Amino acid sequence: MRWQACHGRHDLPWQGTRDAYRIWLAEIMLQQTQVPTVIGYYQRFLTRFPDVLSLARADLDEVLRLWAGLGYYTRARNLHRAAGMVAADHGGSFPRSREALELLPGIGRSTAAAIAAFAFGGREAILDGNVKRVLSRHFAISGYPGDAQVSAKLWRRAESLLPARGIERYTQALMDLGATVCTRSDPGCASCPLRATCRARASGRQAAFPSPRARKPVRVRATAMLVLERAGEVLLEKRPPAGIWGGLWSLPEMPFDGDPGAYCAKRLGCEIAGVEQLARLRHAFTHFTLDIQAYRCAVSRVIPRAREAGSLWLGIDEALSAAIPAPVKRLLSQVAAASSPRATPL
Ligand code: ADE
Repeated sequence: MRWQACHGRHDLPWQGTRDAYRIWLAEIMLQQTQVPTVIGYYQRFLTRFPDVLSLARADLDEVLRLWAGLGYYTRARNLHRAAGMVAADHGGSFPRSREALELLPGIGRSTAAAIAAFAFGGREAILDGNVKRVLSRHFAISGYPGDAQVSAKLWRRAESLLPARGIERYTQALMDLGATVCTRSDPGCASCPLRATCRARASGRQAAFPSPRARKPVRVRATAMLVLERAGEVLLEKRPPAGIWGGLWSLPEMPFDGDPGAYCAKRLGCEIAGVEQLARLRHAFTHFTLDIQAYRCAVSRVIPRAREAGSLWLGIDEALSAAIPAPVKRLLSQVAAASSPRATPL
């Protein structure tokens, strides 16, 4: 805690407040995203939704749009549902206990503990990825932290170490130590406040902790995406609510080895005047990698038929600011850059 006072982080936008809403939002964003990326999203989100009631009243679409690019969109859907529950079941104020916080969607034990500690001074233990690394090194706890037995050991340690007073600084100290000193591949042991008692350091085995997960081969899925263009507009489709990118807008997809012209005519009701094959993209999800082959298709005619719900022609700039996944944004940016009018010499 003395180390945190001198060397920890003190100016992050979610510090210096006891507002559970602001703390909750930060903890959810930080679950799977690093601090530098979160900061901009966090500030934009708070400008639009300054309190839990404004979020509870919002359309999920707008929430997803502000989340677009952060990934792990289940977080945004849970955030919206949890705000609704705080509004409806808790009179608009977050519950104070770790146990009650854990009943809200998207809030696991460690996130609940962080909110309880930072917002209400609750004496609760956190155990996120960084803290698992700090504790497994310091106490030389081997085994993959995702295993139930290893996890139980780490939780026991985490709980036994809590200070009688100053839970906020202690919690922040653990987070800061994990993020800035006891890093995964390059731990700064020389400046670590725990160097004298760290068992991993004593045996020179910092790199052995925590043990990695037994690796399964990464699955690769392949798909083809179609950028259908007509008069400066592109066709977007709404993804089904469950599954990857649930509820986001995306590009029409066809089988990886499909024929764009035939697919557009048969499935999308569009005649194509020309097709350009774009570069391949890869996007990593937690459980698989998505290999994307994109095609840019110039639409010459839209075959009139009943307009399908869930698809939409949008100007390319508008499409870029819709709730779209990161690789789709990359693709559309490429297309926008390629089709912007060149400067003509006078
Ligand atoms: N990661 C998770 N929670 C955090 C916090 N409150 N500050 C910095 N990094 C974090």
